[in-house]
Amino acid sequence: MNARERRLATWRNQFPTLESLENRARRRIPYFTFDYLEGGTGNEMSRHRNYAALRAVEIVPRYCTDISSIDLSTELFGRRYAAPLVIAPVGMDGGIWPGATRHLARTAQELGLAHIMSTMAAAPIEEVARQAPDAFWFQLYSAPADDHRVTFDLMRRADAAGARVLAVTLDIPLPARRVRDMRNGAAVPFRITPKVLLGMLMRPRWLAALAREGVPRYANLAAYCREGATRREIEGFLRNCRAGSGITWDLIARIRDRWPRAMVLKGILHPADAEKARSLGLDGVIISNHGGRQFDPSPATIDLVPAIRAAVGRDMTVLMDSGIMSGTDILKTLAVGADAVLAGRGFMLGLAALGPDGPRHVATALMDELRIALGQTGARTIAGAASLAVRHRGCWKPEDFRAPAQAGSAVAMQPSL
Ligand SMILES: Cc1cc2nc3c(=O)[nH]c(=O)nc-3n(C[C@H](O)[C@H](O)[C@H](O)COP(=O)(O)O)c2cc1C
Repeated sequence: MNARERRLATWRNQFPTLESLENRARRRIPYFTFDYLEGGTGNEMSRHRNYAALRAVEIVPRYCTDISSIDLSTELFGRRYAAPLVIAPVGMDGGIWPGATRHLARTAQELGLAHIMSTMAAAPIEEVARQAPDAFWFQLYSAPADDHRVTFDLMRRADAAGARVLAVTLDIPLPARRVRDMRNGAAVPFRITPKVLLGMLMRPRWLAALAREGVPRYANLAAYCREGATRREIEGFLRNCRAGSGITWDLIARIRDRWPRAMVLKGILHPADAEKARSLGLDGVIISNHGGRQFDPSPATIDLVPAIRAAVGRDMTVLMDSGIMSGTDILKTLAVGADAVLAGRGFMLGLAALGPDGPRHVATALMDELRIALGQTGARTIAGAASLAVRHRGCWKPEDFRAPAQAGSAVAMQPSL
């Protein structure tokens, strides 16, 4: 066993759950980056609703079947991956742990998983694609200023770099009110106040990583500023970009038209939006509430999977994220109708708590737990998860999405409408 393998073996027992990484992460990164990572919008109801709804799903196991070989591999968009687990896009990942984009991409490449690089990642598209060619998917935020010149150029670069899947994120039409970030002043422009400076000085490992990797920046968007632009100019440009806003179905159709490979929409919650995506020729949807970071009244995503699966049918790929913290969470999500999951905070907690090999520990723990859970149900493959006996009391039904009838009207009297 080499030193790395010994370290990973120790972590296996020391940090068996992703929750057990939280305290250590809090102690190793500055308070404002920890809050940026963990926080949600508003009262953080949607964030906690995600966890609670996942916990509430029940599965009945079956025994006495041959489970001598369990296969987690999964085909997504014509390529086989080691597990139905994708590393979610995380903007300003390099602020949470300097060098994060590279560490996440490398982990995905080594383990045979996919990694969706964020438009807002702290490394450029071309570098990440070179480093992790098999794992490289790209998440696109619109940049409506200047008639989407930047949006389409980001897409062109992702195509030239060979991104296998383009994920267009829909769910930040406006910047969310994230209370923790507001209190901490974590916004563009980011001001280094004495409190912020003290917060950084108290985290020597994070500072050492920062010294090695350099100050994180929006590496993809900064490329559109004039060469030698001052920090103030770059900040002005970023504000002007209004990243994530200005998306219409017409824009989605234009992107679909130009993107040559698989394309999915991230942030779908309503079955009618999923159906619209299918009618425009999208290959998949990612059911997501951005980890509870955008709209606090949002339902838990797991509770929407059955209705969205029913809306799009069996032949469209349905992915889900928001709240995945264990292998059993993955199994439950597959059992109610998804093809695979994404995890965001889980991987970042690994990085923050354990450094560059943290995401590997996280992926291994999730896959180990999924393998054991699958075997416990008597299923041997990921496809088998779809036919498990599952009780999902909180799930939304297709009829929940119909507009409510006016009280007292003739329509309201017909119960089946
Ligand atoms: C710190 C942070 C930054 C994020 N940045 C992005 C982003 O740039 N683009 C995007 O589409 N989603 C972004 N997300 C949302 C994730 O891709 C994903 O939907 C979410 O983390 C899933 O929930 P989970 O954290 O509970 O796994 C971000 C999430 C976090 C926690």
